Amino acid sequence: MSGGPAVLSLENVCKTYGSGETRVEALRSVSLEVQRGDFVAIIGPSGSGKSTLMNILGCLDVPTSGRYLFAGDDVMRLGDDQLARIRNLRIGFVFQQFHLLKKLSAWRNVELPLLYRRARGRREKALAALGLVGLDHRVDHTPNELSGGQQQRVAIARALVTDPELILADEPTGNLDTTSTAEILAILYQLHREGRTIVLITHDPEIAAVAARVVRISDGVLTEEVPVALTGRRSGAARPRPRAPRRRAAPIADTGGEAASPPAGAAGPPEPRAQPAPVSPAGSGRPPGDRLWPRNSATTPPSSRRTVTS
Ligand SMILES: Nc1ncnc2c1ncn2[C@@H]1O[C@H](COP(=O)(O)OP(=O)(O)OP(=O)(O)O)[C@@H](O)[C@H]1O
Ligand SMILES: [Mg+2]
Repeated sequence: MSGGPAVLSLENVCKTYGSGETRVEALRSVSLEVQRGDFVAIIGPSGSGKSTLMNILGCLDVPTSGRYLFAGDDVMRLGDDQLARIRNLRIGFVFQQFHLLKKLSAWRNVELPLLYRRARGRREKALAALGLVGLDHRVDHTPNELSGGQQQRVAIARALVTDPELILADEPTGNLDTTSTAEILAILYQLHREGRTIVLITHDPEIAAVAARVVRISDGVLTEEVPVALTGRRSGAARPRPRAPRRRAAPIADTGGEAASPPAGAAGPPEPRAQPAPVSPAGSGRPPGDRLWPRNSATTPPSSRRTVTS
C-alpha cells in the first residue's frame, strides 16, 4: 500500500436533523477509516442512517459535529466549490437508479464526466471504461436498448472514467434481477481486486457479503463485522483481503462478449449527480450463496462473518 492518508476518515461524526421534538440523531459518533484498496460494505435497515452517511461520505452533506477527512483533507473546512471539486473529480458515484441520459448512447453517457473538464481523448477513454465492464460491444446502444444490468455497467463505467479515488455505490443492485446482480457484484469485486477503493451501501446482507469488510449501521451507530476466520470460530472461510497496489482492471466479459478495449485513462470530473434513492428494509442476514455469483466469475465466494460491537 501507499502508506498515504486513508481515503476516508470519519472521527466521531454526528448528524442531527431538526430540533426540539423533531430532532433526529441520524448518526451518533460514527468513526470509520477506509484505506486505499479497501472494499467496505455498509449495511443497515431502513432508517438506520445509510443515506445520511452516504451523503456525508460523498460530500453531498456535512456532519453536524466530528471530523471527516477525505484523503487527508478536512472536509468541514472546505467551501462549496472545493466540496464540489472533490465530488466531481475524486468520487465515482453508482446509484440504484443508474441515472443515465436516455437519449445518449452508452459511450456518450460515459463520456459526460470528461466533458465537464473538456478532457482530450474522451471517446477513447469512454470506450476503454466500457471495456472494463465488458460492454465494448454495446457502446452505441442507448439505455433503452440495454438490460438493467448493462445500464448499471454503463453507470459503473461512467464512475470509472474519471479514475476516482473512491467508488461510492448506493444500492447498486437494488433494481436488478438475480443474474444482473451477480454480474454487477462480480464487477465490483473485480475492481476491488484491481486495487480500487469501494464503499458499497446496502440493506441486503447477501449483497454486503461481497465486500472484504462489512460495517453495520443501526440507529445511527456503526459496528464492524469481523470475518469468522479472524475470530477463530471457523477455519478457512475468509477470503484474503487484497492488498496489491492499484493497477488497471482487466476487462470483464459480458454475456455477448467480444474483445475488450484498453483501460480507462486520466481523471476528470463526473457530471453532477442526483441524491441517492431510498432503499428497502433489511435482508436475510445470510452470506451470499451461489445465487449471487456467476459461474464464470473470476471472483471467489465471500467469507462468513459475525458482528462485534466496537
Ligand atoms: N432531511 C431530514 N430531516 C429530518 N430527518 C431526517 C432527514 N433525513 C433523514 N432523516 C432521519 O434520519 C434517520 C436516518 O435516515 P436515512 O435516510 O439516513 O436512513 P436509511 O438507512 O438511508 O434508510 P432507508 O434504508 O429507508 O433509505 C431516519 O430516522 C430519518 O427519518
Ligand atoms: Mg436511504
